[in-house]
Order: sequence, then C-alpha cells, then structure tokens
Amino acid sequence: MKPERILLVDDDRNFLRVLGYQVQQFGYGTCCVSSGARALERVRESAVDLVVTDLRMPGMDGLQLLERIRRLDPDLPVIVLTAHGSIEGAVDAVKGGASDFLTKPFEQEEIHHSIRKALEMTRLIRENRRLSREVQRRFEFGGIVGSSKEFREVLELARQLAAVATTVLIQGETGTGKELLARAIHFNGPRKKSPFVVVNCGAIPRDLMESELFGHRKGAFTGAVADRRGKFAVADTGTLFLDEVAELPLDMQVKLLRVLQEKEMDVIGDPEPSPVDVRILAATNQDLGRAMAEGRFRQDLFYRLSVAPLRIPPLRERREDVPLLMHHFESESSRKLGKQVRFGEKAVSLLQSYRWPGNVRELENVVERLVLFNRTGKVEPEDLPIEIRRPAGDTDGRMFRLPDKGFSLQELERDILLAALERNRWNQVRTARYLGITRNTLIYRMRKFGLRRIRGGGRPRS
Ligand SMILES: Nc1ncnc2c1ncn2[C@@H]1O[C@H](COP(=O)(O)OP(=O)(O)OP(=O)(O)O)[C@@H](O)[C@H]1O
Ligand SMILES: [Mg+2]
Repeated sequence: MKPERILLVDDDRNFLRVLGYQVQQFGYGTCCVSSGARALERVRESAVDLVVTDLRMPGMDGLQLLERIRRLDPDLPVIVLTAHGSIEGAVDAVKGGASDFLTKPFEQEEIHHSIRKALEMTRLIRENRRLSREVQRRFEFGGIVGSSKEFREVLELARQLAAVATTVLIQGETGTGKELLARAIHFNGPRKKSPFVVVNCGAIPRDLMESELFGHRKGAFTGAVADRRGKFAVADTGTLFLDEVAELPLDMQVKLLRVLQEKEMDVIGDPEPSPVDVRILAATNQDLGRAMAEGRFRQDLFYRLSVAPLRIPPLRERREDVPLLMHHFESESSRKLGKQVRFGEKAVSLLQSYRWPGNVRELENVVERLVLFNRTGKVEPEDLPIEIRRPAGDTDGRMFRLPDKGFSLQELERDILLAALERNRWNQVRTARYLGITRNTLIYRMRKFGLRRIRGGGRPRS
C-alpha cells in the first residue's frame, strides 16, 4: 500500500522542516509548503490524504485555508496547530470542521496519534460512503431511467412482480425497453443467481425451433449427431426470456403451453418427459388481441402468459422522460467518447416534441450521434436530424415543406437514410423495402454517405 501523503503548512520554515522530518519518521509521505495559497494549490492538484496547518500565517490563515479546503473536498481531514494559549483559535478550528487541533509545542507522540486518528476516521467515512453507494446501486432497478407517472407505475408493478417469480408478459412498441425491463425483473428476483437466457422467437428458423428450445438426443433425426441441450435446459433454475413471443409458430405455442402447465417438456428423441424449472418472461411489440383474432396466437397461451401483463407506454405518451433519458445517454456517450455536450433549450424542446417512432432506442442512437459529431460542446436545432428539426404536420400537406432559405439535398438524403435505417434497426432488407429502393441501391448510398451502424440498437436479424 502506498504511504498516505500529508501536506504540512507553516510559515515558520524551521518548524516546518522539523515537523516534516518527524512525520516522515512515522512512515508517511510529506509535502511541505509555507503559505495557505500554496497549500490550496497542492490540495487541488495532487492526492493529499491529510493536511496539518498552522493557524497564524500571513495572507491566508489556517482558518481560511480550512474553509477553502472544506469546499474543495469535504472529506479531507485537517489538523490545526495553534500557538500556546490560543483557546479561541482552537474553538474556531473545531467549529470550522478541523478533525483535531494541537497546541504548540507538542510531543511527537501527540501529533502521531492525532494523524492516525484523523486518517482512520476518513477511511471509515469513505468506506461507509462507498458501501452505501453500492447498496443503492444494487437496489436500483437495472439502470432504468424514467420519472413520468406512467412509467413509474410500470416500474413499481415490475418490482413487485420481480419478487414473486410469476410469468410476466411485457408489451410495448419497439425500443420501449422490454428486454431491459425483463433483465431487471430477473436480476431483482429470487432467481438472480441463475442464468437469464434470451430466445428471440422471431429469429430462429421454424424447423430448428423445437430443438433450439427443448434440445434433442443424438440420433433423434438425421443430422442429430450428438445430444444437444435446449434453451430451457440452459435456463434451468433461472429465467427464459421469450422475446417476440408472437412469432412462435402455432405448434410451438402448444408445446410452450404444456411446459407452463405441466412444468415438463419433451426433449426430441427422449421417451421420457424432463422436468422444467424455469421462469418465463415473454415480450412482444405486436397487438396480441389482433394476433388472436387472426388465429395467429392461441388464446389459452395468452391467458397463461398474461397472468401479469406489463405494458410499457411509448415514449410519446411520456414525454417528460425525454430530457431525463437524453441526459442519461449523453453521460454514457460522454464517458465512452471522452467529450461532453450540452443541449440548447430549443434543441431540447424539439427533441421533446418529436414522435419517437423507434422510442427509447431511437433516442439513444440520436443522442449518441449528437455527442459523436458535435464540435462546439452544445447541441442546437440545426444539429438535429431532419425529422426532429421539422416535425411532421408542418408540411402544407406535402411530405416535406421546403425551407425558404434553400437547403442541401445531399444532407437531406443522408438524414433520411439514417432515420430510415434507425427506424428499421439497421436491417438493410427492411430499410430498402421501407424506402422503396433495392438493397443494392441502399448499400451504394450508405457507402456514399459513409453510414455505418455505430452501436447495437437491436440485433441484426436473419
Ligand atoms: N427507461 C430506460 N432507461 C434507460 N435505457 C433504456 C430505457 N428504455 C430503453 N432503454 C434502452 O433503449 C434500448 C432499447 O431497449 P430494449 O432493447 O430493451 O427495447 P425493446 O422494447 O426490447 O425493443 P424491441 O421491441 O425492438 O426488441 C436499449 O439500449 C435500452 O438499454
Ligand atoms: Mg427487444
């Protein structure tokens, strides 16, 4: 361990030299200065663990120094040395937050004791603070941000559901935070020490689905060259998150229902059913009412899953969460990119009134790009993507209203491409379809504008 560093302050240089020598003998690092101003500089620029200062000094005296240090670092302990008989000075020092005072002249052992006590006290304070921060973090709900009434209600319910380990169905538009919430539910519940396994029901090819979920035995079908564990087995004693559950084919819905009801499953090629101990969380951005009406989703499964339904409202229905989320993502990006930006008032209000069809994910992407491309330290309306700068509806009935001053077609094209890619989660096939162009044309234009996905919103899908 590095020795603690003690800053010694006294205008009497001879005294300072002797004190410095003694303190070094105790095994501490020292740094000696002869004025309050120099002391402050040292406190500001270097890691000092304790300050010992004389009370009476020309210029900034010990009390003033104490006060300034308190403002800089409320935890840094300060021991004040007073001249013989200066009771008032000692009282003021203690009132001003000194950890201790000593009357000159003092014995070596006195100052040693005083230093040890002060350092120990600070260590305890710091440790205590660290622990309480950690506790707070642990009880926080998975880094989820939001203060609107609508959102807090969802969170409150989620917190309650987390504890009881029931099946939960999370509904909400794309990018509203369904997966984030599912994770928080798992990691705040009784199964938090066991695995959290994600299955994206929309991404698994139909004929692999059963084996993917339940596993198979060697030789169960052509190509089954070895035993394979399914996701249910991997998630044993933990949680299985069935994302995009509405995409499950009907025959798999029947099998899932059986697992939920009987707590057992059939591994392909295994004559005996296997017990299942898995908590199911499911999510969808589809309207399950409609899926049921159209015969795509089984009613009995719906009722099983939605014992506890949670619906995350789209961002446009809780606009007061927008600034909070902006700042949350800004500080995340800042940390990653090593630069900070502030949002101008106009920019904030445009961001807040935008419709956010891609919800929080879209906001996250927008903020990250704003931080990445910002050069001035401040975000102004003209920095915003075009669809946010010019809200829909402001268009004379045409798709766009042309600005009076003229504009750059290139820039507009780039913005539109970007917005379309983000809305389609960077899936090129879907984006091309959305824009009514071929995939090759899309790729060509993405290259032309140097558009690349910088960080995962959703996973790319097959
Ligand atoms: N309330 C929130 N606080 C902080 N981050 C959030 C919040 N809601 C969503 N996010 C972030 O937004 C992104 C999208 O969230 P998530 O993947 O959970 O959405 P989703 O509802 O599962 O979307 P999809 O339906 O498209 O799969 C993630 O990066 C997530 O961390
Ligand atoms: Mg998701």
